Amino acid sequence: MIIAQISDLHARPHGRPAYGIVDTNAAITRAVDAVLALDPRPDCVLVTGDLSDCGLAEEYGIVRDELARLPMPVYVVPGNHDRRESFAAELRPRYGYLPKQGFLHYTVEDVPVRLIGLDTVIAGEDGGEICAAREAWLAERLAEGHGRPTIVFMHHPPFAVGVDGMDIMPCRVSPGFARLIASHPEIERVLCGHYHRPIQRRFAGTIGYVVPGTAHQVALDLRPGTENWFIMEPPSIAVHVWKPETGVVSHLQPIGDFGPRRPFVLDPAYPGKPQGAPAHA
Ligand SMILES: [Fe+2]
Ligand SMILES: [Fe+2]
Repeated sequence: MIIAQISDLHARPHGRPAYGIVDTNAAITRAVDAVLALDPRPDCVLVTGDLSDCGLAEEYGIVRDELARLPMPVYVVPGNHDRRESFAAELRPRYGYLPKQGFLHYTVEDVPVRLIGLDTVIAGEDGGEICAAREAWLAERLAEGHGRPTIVFMHHPPFAVGVDGMDIMPCRVSPGFARLIASHPEIERVLCGHYHRPIQRRFAGTIGYVVPGTAHQVALDLRPGTENWFIMEPPSIAVHVWKPETGVVSHLQPIGDFGPRRPFVLDPAYPGKPQGAPAHA
């Protein structure tokens, strides 16, 4: 099973780039093109929040049209730049798995790796939350999985990443949340967005994974007390490949034109070349 992940699309009204300069809509087009260029094509695509920049119907229309170019199932969860009500109203006609009320949680069961989407949004706040009700819902769904391989995906990372500019807008969770995750070793990953950078850490016995955004990134800044600034480093998609013998292996695929693929042709003086070996390996 191949699962593509894109995040933080931040669609904007036509002609109004983000922060005055970032053409996020063109970036969405390139991200969808990058998914379509994968061979073999992924079985599904996860979109981990901030689909819109301001929660506007026009923005969701742009996202909906772009994601409609993907022939495989697409699973979306909201982020802090989304508005839960407009997100659901604009996207539910296409994505019927979105609940009609309450948090926008759901599971995807008819696939080799079970998918659990979580809604971490707190209306009007940059940070997110897994409150008691959401944690209880997750506990029930995990129990129903009976140990089948599982991916949990959500917008806000439910773990600190050691970067002050990011950790000031975290996903608040109870101590029980980490215990819940740790009690289900079938969870292959907790996939997130929000921080617009590639980040991984060990979390609750699994791997916490943050994918870059499809447009602007957050500049790496490990100095204490500094704020986030954005930078136009290359965007990426994640490609998570599950096989029974390996579990999930995660690849990061930059979005852009990096020229053609080229063969590894070894120099005749290459010291690692065995006697009589072909010229390339
Ligand atoms: Fe974002
Ligand atoms: Fe976010």
